[in-house]
Amino acid sequence: MTRKVLVTGGAGFVGSNLTEFFMGKGDNVVIYDNLSRPGGGAKVNIKYLLEKYKSNPSLSFVEADIGDFGKLSEAMKDADIVLHVAAQTAMTTSLEDPVGDFETNARGTFNVLEAARRADNNPIVVYTSTNKVYGELTKKAIELEEKEKRWDFAADEFKKGVDEDYPLDYEGPYGCSKGIGDAYCLDYARTFGLRTVVFRMSGIYGTSQHPTEDQAWVAWFIRQAMENKPITIYGDGKQVRDILFIPDLVDMFDRVITGIDKAKGKVYNIGGGRENAISVLELLDLMESELGIKPSQVTFDSWRRADQKVYISNTGRANREFGWEPKVTKEDGIRKLYEWMKKG
Ligand SMILES: NC(=O)c1ccc[n+]([C@@H]2O[C@H](COP(=O)([O-])OP(=O)(O)OC[C@H]3O[C@@H](n4cnc5c(N)ncnc54)[C@H](O)[C@@H]3O)[C@@H](O)[C@H]2O)c1
Repeated sequence: MTRKVLVTGGAGFVGSNLTEFFMGKGDNVVIYDNLSRPGGGAKVNIKYLLEKYKSNPSLSFVEADIGDFGKLSEAMKDADIVLHVAAQTAMTTSLEDPVGDFETNARGTFNVLEAARRADNNPIVVYTSTNKVYGELTKKAIELEEKEKRWDFAADEFKKGVDEDYPLDYEGPYGCSKGIGDAYCLDYARTFGLRTVVFRMSGIYGTSQHPTEDQAWVAWFIRQAMENKPITIYGDGKQVRDILFIPDLVDMFDRVITGIDKAKGKVYNIGGGRENAISVLELLDLMESELGIKPSQVTFDSWRRADQKVYISNTGRANREFGWEPKVTKEDGIRKLYEWMKKG
């Protein structure tokens, strides 16, 4: 059966990869995006997608804002699946413009849920939340250990990472606006029976990602090094994230949609896990040893607000319930991203 899949933010990094995946499955895909991604990445992606599928009527594009409830409801008509990935994605931007951040992430997500609740087909809604909903990981003490090039969790309890039961602590406008969306998604399942699923994601990277200094740090460092430009490290460079290559994330979307009866109303922490955790300093080393590139200069500045020293996702729930685990190692993924960036 051909399904109708609406991808909000479908011209963005995650959204364009979802679009290609579901087009490949033979579904009808509607991209709903206002192309506002800073740096112009969404415009590059939509041009590429519309060219690639120009003779395929299964892809359509609605250029609109998720703040426009009428257009959103119209686009959602008859949708079987809604992949809600549109967002303002940078903490820094949310500090400069908390109102705009709220409108897109909080109000926009509410609009998506409300349109879905009123839609005819009782669509599945998958929402991409963030590790920032756990704040700076201070609600339940986690002892940290400082190593030569990275921070790490010292306590055995957290060796596998942070799981979904860790107390929520929305911090900064971005943490709050994404957290509100996260809370509403889970509650729309409980209160209205909407089939929602929430992913709390760590650093996702890969092809079709157009970095800025404020978002997509792995790709940003590679870009700067490729162009022999300088970088600034905010903090000591030992901060750690578990990075995940995009096809592995797309695979989890596919699994929860297929297994929606099990996934509905639930939240899953999704990231690369301990094996794919990497610090900023370690990324610079890896870029030099594996790719032979380095930035022209590295300077240090003060920590950014709400920047966790270590975040590693405990992906045990996704593994237990769906047999999901990251397949692409950080070394392979980074090499693939670099190869793609060289072409563009
Ligand atoms: N990439 C990551 O590492 C990461 C980590 C955690 C969570 N997330 C979440 O995943 C989602 C996708 O992130 P991404 O990296 O693909 O970001 P992205 O910026 O590449 O994609 C977001 C897309 O949403 C569109 N958009 C923004 N505001 C809109 C609005 N008001 N109406 C319609 N479209 C709008 C943008 O133009 C862009 O194409 C976001 O919800 C983000 O918060 C991403």
